[in-house]
Amino acid sequence: MGGLNVNSRVLSGMRPTGCLHLGHYHGVLKNWVQLQQQFDCFFFVADWHALTTHYEDSGIIADSVWGMVIDWLAAGVNPGSARLFIQSHVPEHAELHLLLSMVTPLGWLERVPSYKDQQERLRERDLATYGFLGYPLLQSADILIYGADKVPVGEDQVAHVELTREVARRFNHLYGREPGYEEAAEAAIKKMGKKNARLYRDLLKRYQEQGDHEAIGVARALLAEQQNLAMSDCERLLGYLEGGGRMILTEPEALLTPASRMPGLDGQKMSKSYGNTITLRENPEAVREKLRTMPTDPARVRRTDPGNPDVCPVWQLHCIYSGDEVKDWVREGCTSAGIGCLDCKQPIIESVLAELLPIQERAREFEQDPGKVRAITHEGSEAARDVARETRDEVRQVMGLNYT
Ligand code: TRP
Ligand code: SF4
Repeated sequence: MGGLNVNSRVLSGMRPTGCLHLGHYHGVLKNWVQLQQQFDCFFFVADWHALTTHYEDSGIIADSVWGMVIDWLAAGVNPGSARLFIQSHVPEHAELHLLLSMVTPLGWLERVPSYKDQQERLRERDLATYGFLGYPLLQSADILIYGADKVPVGEDQVAHVELTREVARRFNHLYGREPGYEEAAEAAIKKMGKKNARLYRDLLKRYQEQGDHEAIGVARALLAEQQNLAMSDCERLLGYLEGGGRMILTEPEALLTPASRMPGLDGQKMSKSYGNTITLRENPEAVREKLRTMPTDPARVRRTDPGNPDVCPVWQLHCIYSGDEVKDWVREGCTSAGIGCLDCKQPIIESVLAELLPIQERAREFEQDPGKVRAITHEGSEAARDVARETRDEVRQVMGLNYT
């Protein structure tokens, strides 16, 4: 395990719309626990985002917020390493969202794939709202207000991070130019010497005219090597390269979370909407019952029929929870009808219970001490606000809104 990389800031959020389950644990939370050891992390409850789709039944948001924070803590997210907070407790997100909305073309939001998709998928909700259209821009504000450069998200959110990059670029382009900026940049280029200056101009051209992103990487490396450039010149030239002036808002990159392979009880991806979950707080008896009754190879009707693990959802769970020895025992026993499906499920039941036990113990401690959970998020919000205010102040300033 490497040391803490303080130059990278990670930000991610989760919408509070119900109980967390093993899919969240394997797909997201274990990843957060890893990241908090390496990076400066900010994790927050995206309650405003939940409101964009659940404004008619907002009660579920209030019911889920604290439980979600408890689930994070129980899963090992550590408030000593990561800042945990609630979006609406940091109103600076909303101010940045509003300011960004002034410079964001409508078409950029209308073209985000999740916009039309979700409207169609959630037909029972009226999502023809201003707030829902702005969902990805609110997400951009979440990210940009912390200058986060890494955003762990699933595949479905990558387009939102992409939009964030575009919005940041546009903002920097509009507001990052100091007076006399181009002259200062030209003077800085000359300081690199003839050869490097030519190289830099080439890279600049490749990026600006051909949109060649690789050129930026090369130019960054080139700038990092320059001994006789002051820090400020270096930054100026980096900004110049990216199409604007100074970088005020940082362009983030998506840290793609490997698609959660956590199958649900029916073999489809575990998800609340499929009703195939085991929640993190599921009591042990319910866990046993759900696993005992989960479907198996449909062709294996009688105990004496041999089965095929490749078409069985139980096998998929063995792939997550069992070692080679158990897996060999399953394949052999299943295909020869040597074991029954209940025998086969037993090791899974034990593994899931063993996995949930410490999580549930910690969850119980936090449940019994709600004051502590509130104190943790309160401290997290204060720490987050300190960072968010700095960005907000700078944004106000460059936009010319710093009259007092
Ligand atoms: N939209 C994200 C989701 O549905 C949640 C979210 C809101 C988020 N703001 C964010 C994720 C900022 C990463 C960064 O999962
Ligand atoms: Fe599935 Fe196991 Fe039954 Fe085979 S023995 S069908 S792998 S549950």
